[in-house]
Amino acid sequence: MLLIILPVYARQPLPNDPDTGLAIDSNWEQVRAVCTICHSAKLVTQNRMSRQAWLDTIRWMQKEHGLIALNDLEAPILDYLARNYNVRGHSKIRSRRRNLELN
Ligand code: HEC
Repeated sequence: MLLIILPVYARQPLPNDPDTGLAIDSNWEQVRAVCTICHSAKLVTQNRMSRQAWLDTIRWMQKEHGLIALNDLEAPILDYLARNYNVRGHSKIRSRRRNLELN
């Protein structure tokens, strides 16, 4: 039964860049250029964060690790990260359910 239902929900995944594993989506080349200078792109592709948490991560790297100001690239890079590596929805990882409401 599951096998019949699943394809309805499965989104066609974006292809990944074979070298870095980054999803080939708009602005991915800027992300590759900036975000693989100091570390592997795996640090990007293995993470799932909200847009705000990605921004916090960028600010942390700027404060602690010498990441340069991204200026005009910041918004497009954040859009890319939030679109492709977000905690909920719109990600290739479909299995993560929402957190339970605990009261
Ligand atoms: C100037 C160097 C530098 C650049 C450029 C850089 N980072 Fe980092 N980043 C670091 C360092 C250093 C760490 C810590 C690595 C470790 O803990 O092993 C890190 C860690 C991370 C982590 C893991 C954070 C955590 O909480 O564990 C993520 C995610 C990340 N970077 C994403 C990015 C993204 C996205 C970009 C592009 C906007 C980027 N990095 C560009 C230096 C950089």
